[in-house]
Amino acid sequence: MPRKKFVAGNWKMHGSRAENAALIEAIIGTVTDDRVSCVICPPFVYLHDAWRLLRSSAVALGAQDVCAEAIGAYTGEVSAAMLQDVGCRYTLVGHSERRSMYGDTNALVARKFVAAQSRALIPILCVGEQLAEREAGHTQEVVGAQLDAVLQLSGVHSLGGAVLAYEPVWAIGTGKTATTQQAQDAHAFIRSLLVKIFGEAVAKKVRIQYGGSVKPNNAKELMSQPDVDGALVGGASPIGGPAGVSARLPASAHDANATNQMSRIAVEYLTA
Ligand code: 13P
Repeated sequence: MPRKKFVAGNWKMHGSRAENAALIEAIIGTVTDDRVSCVICPPFVYLHDAWRLLRSSAVALGAQDVCAEAIGAYTGEVSAAMLQDVGCRYTLVGHSERRSMYGDTNALVARKFVAAQSRALIPILCVGEQLAEREAGHTQEVVGAQLDAVLQLSGVHSLGGAVLAYEPVWAIGTGKTATTQQAQDAHAFIRSLLVKIFGEAVAKKVRIQYGGSVKPNNAKELMSQPDVDGALVGGASPIGGPAGVSARLPASAHDANATNQMSRIAVEYLTA
């Protein structure tokens, strides 16, 4: 059975209650069937609001991060149980912005992955290399180590219940998308690791998203690659949504349009 495509919007630190409401309305009006899995990941403070707006839709809710600890004196942190409590089904772990700016090491990412799964949240595990690492020919080594850290802690069967996201750091927010061949090569490498660990049958089922400057105009080609199973979309570039959606959005909502792009990408794929 072919893997169902999975498009997620990482809103990063964008949005407001009013903008989010308009965007969510637009997304659920656009993504009306389940041929593509769609998830939005707003900032923590908006999660419950978002859940109330999308709970009876085909779109699911995810967080952008999760605390590795279960409960306790961890000022500013949000636990997996709390995310579950406010309606999340997914959480990103190991996003490169967390790794590079907030000290998320491979070991910490692995603990966050385990914490998420302990509360039945599906982790979207982000991996990817820096430009210098790619140029030095170390992409496979870096990505392999990021995956290995999670497997060492969580056990070999855990990745089967996760979504993976290959996000080359040099492509995030830069407008430099990986070529379809670069994306396919990295995804095929990740899947080959999964085959070694889980065997072919399980590895074939794991979805691997590509992230890094995905736009409606390059999504179809990226997602047509055999091992690219969807897109993790960030960005806030001022691209309007589909005509009907654009018309309904307030001007300010166009600016925080990661979601807008996300729904366009899902629509692009569906109409491919
Ligand atoms: P951009 O789409 O802005 O490059 O961001 C990708 C990303 O970080 C998704 O998690």
